[in-house]
Order: sequence, then C-alpha cells, then structure tokens
Amino acid sequence: MKKRILSHLGDISKIHHRAAFADVQHHIDKHKGSNAFVELAAKRFSCREFNHHPVSSAKLAKIVEAARLAPSAKNQQPVHIWVLTSDEALSRIRPIHTMFDAPVVIMVGFSISEGAKRACDGMNWAETDATIAGTHIALAAADLDLGCTWVGSFDPVKIRESFPETEGYEISALFAIGHPSAHAKPSDRHVARKSMEEFSTEL
Ligand SMILES: Cc1cc2nc3c(=O)[nH]c(=O)nc-3n(C[C@H](O)[C@H](O)[C@H](O)COP(=O)(O)O)c2cc1C
Repeated sequence: MKKRILSHLGDISKIHHRAAFADVQHHIDKHKGSNAFVELAAKRFSCREFNHHPVSSAKLAKIVEAARLAPSAKNQQPVHIWVLTSDEALSRIRPIHTMFDAPVVIMVGFSISEGAKRACDGMNWAETDATIAGTHIALAAADLDLGCTWVGSFDPVKIRESFPETEGYEISALFAIGHPSAHAKPSDRHVARKSMEEFSTEL
C-alpha cells in the first residue's frame, strides 16, 4: 500500500527536487487537469516581486471569501482579517515590513477569547484557525494567478501601535498580494523539499 501511494505521488514530489523553474513548470503542466487541487498546490510559490497593476476588487473579494470559508475548531471563527489597499493603510505597514511593495496586504488576526479549547488540556485553537485561514488566502491568490508571500517576520508590537484597529486580536501573519512581475520566480528554498520518504510514513 505504501509503495502504491508513493508511486502515485512520486511524480509530484519530484517537482520539488528540481532546481530549475523550467522543470517545475514542466511538471505543473504535466499535472494540469488531473487534479485541480494538487495542480494548484504545485504551482503556488512565494512571490516577492510585483508589478503595479492593481488587484481587482472582484479578485480580492474571492480571496476574502476563501478565508471566510476556512474551517475552525467548533466553527467558532475567532479570525479577523484586515485588507490594506489604500495608500494611507499601506503607508502604515511599509515602515514595519516592505511587503515587497505589493499593492495589497492582508493581515490575519485571531482572538484568543473567541477560540475553542481542547477539552483534555485547554489548548486554544485560535492561532491554528488563523493559520488555516492564511493557507486559504495563499492558495486562493495562486488560484487567481496572483502572487502572494506569507510574511511572519514582523514586530507585533509595531503592528499594534500602527493599527489600533487590531485591538483584541493577535496578528498571526501578513500576506503580500499582487500581480507577479515578469521576473518573479520561485526562490531556491521553494524547490528544496524533503523527499516523499522523509516526509511521510504510512503505518
Ligand atoms: C509561517 C510562515 C512564515 C513566513 N515568513 C516569511 C517572511 O517573513 N518573509 C518571507 O520572505 N517569506 C516568509 N515565508 C515564506 C517561506 O519562506 C516560504 O514559504 C518557503 O521558503 C517555501 O517557499 P515557497 O513558499 O516558495 O514554496 C513564510 C512562510 C510561512 C509558512
């Protein structure tokens, strides 16, 4: 059984062992139409170069909807997102992180007081719920042919000072979103994936 799963997934895992973007593209093309989700997961990469084309409000609405539809523990939905599109809002984030000059930034926050708790030890699921919503954002952006990078290296104290609107929420992640520039390509890290054998164990 293990062999069967690994042989099915083998072609996909090879995508990540090839350093050249052309090879990645080849495998993406190969999987086109076979499985929409895996195809999407394979084509997504962290995009850190954007052009200046604005992101349409229709595309933004789809990204927000994808995040809103994310599952959460006990469906308590302790997540809130802030979509920064105005010059005023973007000028507040840039001194904290450049966000690669993306025309749109989405901040994802979670409220501990709204999070469900695990019965056996009280672990709060709010941050996990925010991470799932963030994953939906990144994948929805890729599905809409937008570039996106998940940014975790920000100072939460500075975010709180610059965005008092986030009161009551911890900020989990920032997302730089826009149309990829003509030169945008996956970083070396993108292709440095564990092998299928290292990554998964079938018991
Ligand atoms: C939790 C998390 C935090 C991240 N923080 C940053 C960040 O601060 N800056 C950045 O450029 N990329 C950041 N990334 C993107 C990762 O570096 C990237 O996903 C990884 O190197 C794999 O590359 P890929 O997304 O192109 O497949 C983050 C990703 C995750 C999931």
